[in-house]
Amino acid sequence: MFDAIRTTVVPLFKGRPRDPIPGHPCLSLQGLSKSFGGLDAVSGLDLQVMPGDRKGIIGPNGAGKTTLFNLITGVFPVTSGKVVLFGHDATKWASYDRVHLGMSRTFQVTNLFPKLSVMDNLLLAAQGLRAMKLAMWRFQSSYGELHGKCRELLEKVGFWDRRDVEIRHLSHGEQRQIEIVLGLATEPRLLLLDEPAAGLSTGESHEMAAFLNNLDPELAILMIEHDMDVAFAVVNTIAVLHYGELIEEGTTEQIRASEKVQKIYLGVD
Ligand SMILES: Nc1ncnc2c1ncn2[C@@H]1O[C@H](COP(=O)(O)OP(=O)(O)OP(=O)(O)O)[C@@H](O)[C@H]1O
Ligand SMILES: [Mg+2]
Repeated sequence: MFDAIRTTVVPLFKGRPRDPIPGHPCLSLQGLSKSFGGLDAVSGLDLQVMPGDRKGIIGPNGAGKTTLFNLITGVFPVTSGKVVLFGHDATKWASYDRVHLGMSRTFQVTNLFPKLSVMDNLLLAAQGLRAMKLAMWRFQSSYGELHGKCRELLEKVGFWDRRDVEIRHLSHGEQRQIEIVLGLATEPRLLLLDEPAAGLSTGESHEMAAFLNNLDPELAILMIEHDMDVAFAVVNTIAVLHYGELIEEGTTEQIRASEKVQKIYLGVD
């Protein structure tokens, strides 16, 4: 009886693990599937992301890419299969528990406060993860520490000089970079990017690729991207989704040369 309480109830109060299990992939998807009614949006997908990996996910519209991110991040419950994060089976975890473990994401559509400054947007994002976020008051020193971390991050990514600029006054390309900076506020080890170059001009896309290539090499990145120039400039390996299935995975050169990919993804016969 006591054993049953200890093993089932106590862990609920202790919360989810906060540390990766050493030696495990950042992310391991095992037979992951999601159905919406009769539609298999993601189907029996196996995928691994190791520390420092830069992996792209490509595929035609409706291939299941965003759905896949929603499964990895816990927005949607899976239909079957497993999401293992840093060695922990996180399939049934809430999104915030996954973030605490070191996973962060950005969205396909812009998600910033346009009338707040770069710094204020970042402070809000960084504060969101703090245990004290619901406190009515807090010590001045905790703001100091938070501010210091945000400053450090903005300096690292080259935005410190624009910290007081309101988001709406930044270029579209800069706004998309700031979204990624917000994703870094929680100090992730795995970053999921959903089309970081969506809607950018060619010049802005090149800047985005350079920006991503300057991020900490230890950080693992899983990136959905339609813009092949950006994808090929940033990632080392690519997974190709088609109707929810992983049809090919390999280095950028292998994917470029793959007849299957050319036929199915690029529509070449
Ligand atoms: N919440 C939902 N309810 C029902 N069907 C959905 C839902 N979300 C996605 N779908 C369907 O699942 C399939 C995969 O959609 P998803 O948005 O994951 O594709 P995608 O690869 O991200 O496409 P895009 O390149 O256009 O962003 C589509 O057929 C879509 O209509
Ligand atoms: Mg999508």
